[in-house]
Amino acid sequence: MRRIHIAPSILSADWAQLGQEVKSAEKGGADWIHVDVMDGHFVPVITAGAQMVRALRPLTTLPIDVHLMISPVDTHIESFAKAGANILTVHPEAGPHLHRTLQMIRSHGVKAGVALNPSTPIEAILSILPAIDLILIMSVNPGYGGQEFIPYTLEKVRILRKIIDEQKLPILLEIDGGIQAHNASLAIEAGIDILVSGTAVFGAKDPHDNSYAAAISALRGPR
Ligand code: DX5
Ligand code: ZN
Repeated sequence: MRRIHIAPSILSADWAQLGQEVKSAEKGGADWIHVDVMDGHFVPVITAGAQMVRALRPLTTLPIDVHLMISPVDTHIESFAKAGANILTVHPEAGPHLHRTLQMIRSHGVKAGVALNPSTPIEAILSILPAIDLILIMSVNPGYGGQEFIPYTLEKVRILRKIIDEQKLPILLEIDGGIQAHNASLAIEAGIDILVSGTAVFGAKDPHDNSYAAAISALRGPR
């Protein structure tokens, strides 16, 4: 049985208290911290850069999973690696030579991920699977938190799960966008290892300190 990892996306956290939010997510049982980097060009919104990763790095022992929605991306890989990212995920559309970008990421000792938009076919990566440590299936179009889950993106998860298992590839499958407790189980059934979730975790604020724990455990489902 696969162990399911939960990666809360700080996009939906309280940015005035980001350090505390990351600590609360870790205390609540998060496995990874997902950081969405947006440039206002590849996607409409601007968030934050390597400086943010550097600031968060000493506050958590969890892997920092950086989702780069920026183009061009190559010139920024080194600074994110040096800032302490554990996983750097790029979109195939973010540069002319995806394989070279992935090699660059690994050359810094960081795991290399590729994110597939809903409209990006898996054929974009099938010939370079040995260069990939993680595939991020976007279940919304990138750019905003709180969007509606697109169910037919799960078909790509099913196909990739089969390929990974049959070829015994050391590739993790992650899904990102619109993940809530009710569709998390569908993603897990389809073959996902890591669930990213912004609003379902950080939107679950209440006066009780364990609100993130409940939200994270609801995503994980019954054990
Ligand atoms: C969307 C981002 C997501 C986002 C998910 O472009 O990549 O990581 O934070 O947010 P929810 O879980 O609210 O859809
Ligand atoms: Zn993301």
